[in-house]
Amino acid sequence: MQIIIDSTAKCVNQAAEHFYALLRRKPDAVLGLATGSTPEALYGRLIAQYEAGYISFRQVTTFNLDEYVGLAGDHPQSYRHFMQEKLFDHVDIDPKRTHVPDGLHTTPENAADYDKMIGAAGGIDLLLLGIGANGHIGFNEPGSSFDTLTHIADLDESTRQANARFFASPEEVPAQAVTMGIHTIMQARSIILMAFGANKAQAVAAAVTGPVSSDVPASVLRLHPDVTIYADDEAAAGIKV
Ligand code: GLP
Repeated sequence: MQIIIDSTAKCVNQAAEHFYALLRRKPDAVLGLATGSTPEALYGRLIAQYEAGYISFRQVTTFNLDEYVGLAGDHPQSYRHFMQEKLFDHVDIDPKRTHVPDGLHTTPENAADYDKMIGAAGGIDLLLLGIGANGHIGFNEPGSSFDTLTHIADLDESTRQANARFFASPEEVPAQAVTMGIHTIMQARSIILMAFGANKAQAVAAAVTGPVSSDVPASVLRLHPDVTIYADDEAAAGIKV
């Protein structure tokens, strides 16, 4: 695991470099994508690189990590809507190659079909992750087993509160989500985790220096052969020497 600590802007630039290098080398790459505040600036960089003619998404396939149960793709707080607004609508990606779990029709029985789709596309080359303040990745909350495929997960109360800032009221935050499982995440060939801000410091420290344990889902990444963590100075406060 490589850990890069720098300013937020430099972390974003360096993370964008990974995507840039991959898309230059493999124009038909399969990307795993995340939502939330953390990746927004990175998506802005990718759009700028596309507009400047440096990269194209024409042959790219994407799989997003997660989606709220009960929200249609055109709901303003759905992760499909987020992705359209923050990236897909601004680049030359083929809409048919963009995948976000279906928050309306996924059932416990068919959720793992998402893993089959990822496999059929050749597997994820580069997966982008954020981290929850409680150490979650995707919506794999503390206690999630490491062998899960895509599934329907209950959200922790703390996660619902953290994400309430995007909704009109805390009660509107869905109680469940469809999320890639930890096994799904670990199958990606290469992973980038970005963590920004003081409220991520404890989770980053626990993930990087604590035991590898389902109590801190992000700690599983220490078992993956190709992970780069970009933490800004605030998020890295607990691991800086
Ligand atoms: C959400 C998402 C995660 C994301 C995390 C952090 O609940 N399910 O994929 O990484 O919380 O979000 P943010 O970047 O807004 O802090």
